[in-house]
Amino acid sequence: MPAPKGTYDVLPAAGFLPVRDGLLAPAVRAGYGYAEAPVFEHTDLFARGVGESTDIVAKEMFTFSDRADRSLTLRPEGTAGVLRAVLDAGLHKGQLPVKLRYAGPMFRAERPQAGRYRQFQQVGIEALGLDDPALDAEVVALGAQAFAGLGLTGVRLLLTSLGDPACRPAYREALTAFLGGLDLDEDTRRRAQINPLRVLDDKRPAVQAQLADAPLMVDALCDACAAHLDAVRASLDVLGVAHEPAPRLVRGLDYYMRTTFEFVHDGLGAQSAVGGGGRYDGLSEAIGGPPLPGIGWALGVERTQLALQAEGVAPPVEPGVQVFVVPLGAAAKSSAVPLVHALRAAGLSADLAYGDRGMKGAMKAADRSGAAYAVVLGDRDLAAGTAPLKDLRTGEQTPVALDALTTHLQELLS
Ligand code: HAM
Repeated sequence: MPAPKGTYDVLPAAGFLPVRDGLLAPAVRAGYGYAEAPVFEHTDLFARGVGESTDIVAKEMFTFSDRADRSLTLRPEGTAGVLRAVLDAGLHKGQLPVKLRYAGPMFRAERPQAGRYRQFQQVGIEALGLDDPALDAEVVALGAQAFAGLGLTGVRLLLTSLGDPACRPAYREALTAFLGGLDLDEDTRRRAQINPLRVLDDKRPAVQAQLADAPLMVDALCDACAAHLDAVRASLDVLGVAHEPAPRLVRGLDYYMRTTFEFVHDGLGAQSAVGGGGRYDGLSEAIGGPPLPGIGWALGVERTQLALQAEGVAPPVEPGVQVFVVPLGAAAKSSAVPLVHALRAAGLSADLAYGDRGMKGAMKAADRSGAAYAVVLGDRDLAAGTAPLKDLRTGEQTPVALDALTTHLQELLS
């Protein structure tokens, strides 16, 4: 039976885990603690948090009723849930900023295509409690480092400011007035009424042609927002993180204000966003919490894998075992099982050729295991108390006393 449309299976050969963990490695080094919120939440959390006017809430949520008729939704993103968890636990009353990282599946009922799934994997970080441009720069830089750390060179960072409650309303009005004078179809007009900013992102040439003179948020920022954006840019320059102005950047979630950014890769076709994020200082209040500023990002693991492919960068692979034991004969097998156990107990990773295959098949399994060393145990070796240790890279074989094997391997592999 195939998996449901828009989903896929993670199997070891896909190299999923090293990519996912690699993306979060810079955040681990920067002190972001691991958090995990539930995969489903009350629907209201996303309706209020992500925004009723977004495609995500309006069309893409997997919503269901539980047995007590409460409306629940599979999380379409991680920020609202992580923030709710922080508020529930009262972490915002302690040391600030609260820095968290997370990883896991998100769910959006989108039309599946290359790089777009209904269940997809994100990693993310959130830094809560401070409105400090230096913190914005740290968060953005950690995203850039996430991709660079995997060896990607083609990820561009688009950065802008979406203003705040002091300057955005007046800009919105100006944009709405501008859009009112254009020749737009009914659907687009309706979209403009709900969120005029979204029209700026319309890819159709007939619409784009009319938007050349549209007013832009970055030109209408209040002094505080303009200073914030300047400070973030200056910090990124100091950190050597390249960024491009993106005055027309529109995100698919409503909670952003001030610093807003996206990581894009040009080798991915239509689904070019490999990550995105921004500041969401009003989100806590929107979900019923106290004022609590925050900034964060989420990166798409599948699109990162596609970007690695597009650049021809070999993805990191999960390390195999270090030692592979090949027993030849029944007596050797009964000694090999406790030997492998002892190697593992000593902190080495080890596996064994199960299934009584011949020497050839067992050595093939040893090669496939990724092990650096194979121990080929024959009944005669056992009787002599030695084990031939084969270096699988050089093919060289040396006899090692069985009772010294563990320490010998520990030394070789340290
Ligand atoms: P987002 O831009 O909606 O932001 O998603 C982040 C990333 O998830 C995208 O750039 C993309 O790589 C990946 N992604 C989104 N939808 C799909 C899909 N259907 N299939 C595959 N990959 C997908 C957020 O989710 C925000 N919560 C980010 C954030 C954190 N903002 C502040 N903190």
